[in-house]
Amino acid sequence: MTARPAFGRPVVVLPAMRMEDALQAFAIRAACFFGELAVPFHEEFDGHDDGATHLIACLDDEPIGAVRMRWFKSFAMTERLAVLKHFRGRRVGQQLLEHCRELAQRHGCPLLYAAVLPADIGYWENLGWRRPGDAVRGLPARGRTVTMIKPVVASTN
Ligand SMILES: CC(C)(COP(=O)(O)OP(=O)(O)OC[C@H]1O[C@@H](n2cnc3c(N)ncnc32)[C@H](O)[C@@H]1OP(=O)(O)O)[C@@H](O)C(=O)NCCC(=O)NCCS
Repeated sequence: MTARPAFGRPVVVLPAMRMEDALQAFAIRAACFFGELAVPFHEEFDGHDDGATHLIACLDDEPIGAVRMRWFKSFAMTERLAVLKHFRGRRVGQQLLEHCRELAQRHGCPLLYAAVLPADIGYWENLGWRRPGDAVRGLPARGRTVTMIKPVVASTN
């Protein structure tokens, strides 16, 4: 896929094709969610990883960020976005989400969906995500999270 400048060297985002690649995504998530944010293990690794698409951001061949996509009939669910602490604030999260959008576009999927914590709404809004209006129905709701959506249209970046 594409490479964009960050850190003075390119961060490359790739889909996990092999078990070894998926392990990189799981390692990032274990560090960020399980280690840093104390998300319970069985909540983080919820049984939906098999069959999902995992994207990994790498700097110098080392994984530094990851995100998971799950595919539904009329939307794709973007989940488990995580960037290692030391590498944050350099648009790696934004780059991962842009690759989700590009991938959804290639699959003919019209909408991205995310269930985010209230404290993170600002992050997603800054990247063009919105709370769905009444017109958008049938999206899964989750307890303490807030639904955010983004139509899959050509990038404005
Ligand atoms: C959320 C996360 C993925 C962002 O990754 P990142 O690569 O640092 O994000 P980006 O560089 O694309 O964006 C950074 C910008 O978002 C802002 N931001 C980060 N978290 C934010 C939040 N919760 N609310 C509002 N803004 C936030 C930063 O201040 C920064 O703004 P600036 O450019 O004006 O300085 C990263 O902080 C992370 O892994 N957190 C732990 C895991 C987590 O909480 N994941 C849930 C996803 S919301």
